[in-house]
Amino acid sequence: MSEVLKVKDLCKTYIINKRQNNVLRNVNFSVSQGEMLGVMGPSGSGKSTLLYSVSGMDSFTAGEVEFQGRSIAKMSKRELAALRLDGMGFIFQQMYMLKNLSILDNVILPACQSRKRRESRKEVVSRGEALMRKLGIIEIGDNDINEVSGGQLQRACICRSMMNHPDIIFADEPTGALNRASSEEVMEELAKLNGEGTTIMLVTHDVKVAAKCTRILYMDDGNIAGEKVMGKYTTQKELRERERAVSGWLMELGW
Ligand SMILES: Nc1ncnc2c1ncn2[C@@H]1O[C@H](COP(=O)(O)OP(=O)(O)O)[C@@H](O)[C@H]1O
Ligand SMILES: [Mg+2]
Repeated sequence: MSEVLKVKDLCKTYIINKRQNNVLRNVNFSVSQGEMLGVMGPSGSGKSTLLYSVSGMDSFTAGEVEFQGRSIAKMSKRELAALRLDGMGFIFQQMYMLKNLSILDNVILPACQSRKRRESRKEVVSRGEALMRKLGIIEIGDNDINEVSGGQLQRACICRSMMNHPDIIFADEPTGALNRASSEEVMEELAKLNGEGTTIMLVTHDVKVAAKCTRILYMDDGNIAGEKVMGKYTTQKELRERERAVSGWLMELGW
């Protein structure tokens, strides 16, 4: 399996009032194509910082991040911006939809900004609509973002993240703002995309979400303190068993 992401001795330090805060301390891991990697750990352990550092959204202090074999630290700002737009998809707890655009226009925005593909607006709209149909939200395309439920909005964010056929999707607590039912729906969609081959790295506090991942990393105080390899699940029964196993594993780690 080919590696999408390789992270070597990654360090990130914040200096506030002359005091050093080592938020990431020599983190090493990689993500292979087709994986769904979960990142768990206590609040403040560095999960978001890790996600933003490896995706080129934030800088890091030392170490290396290779995206498909290319060092992101060596890329120019422009190259990195193009990589984020065309090679990566992003989903956040806060969703970050533009409120002066319809849902459909928000979904297709990444494709409108991409310089890589030459598509007519009609083609872009038809791809956006196909994604929205697939995620079961085709009826909200013309709505404003304040006219839909949280679950619908997050599914629209998933569509947006898929718009430029990313090599990996990064998600930071994508279900963190949703109720249990919407959270299940959103996770179901992410698991389905992963089943179809999309590589995903996601931060979550939710054991049910983590149980759907193929592998979980446990962050503690800026380090990877544990790793659980699970692979793909096939039945609901297996999923329930995995939820119990993940809970037990987290307890052992002091969660
Ligand atoms: N912009 C920032 N400036 C200074 N410190 C930060 C900044 N962002 C995060 N931190 C610190 O980094 C640590 C890890 O934060 P974060 O990655 O958000 O943790 P998590 O996502 O696991 O809750 C925390 O101690 C936090 O206070
Ligand atoms: Mg966080």
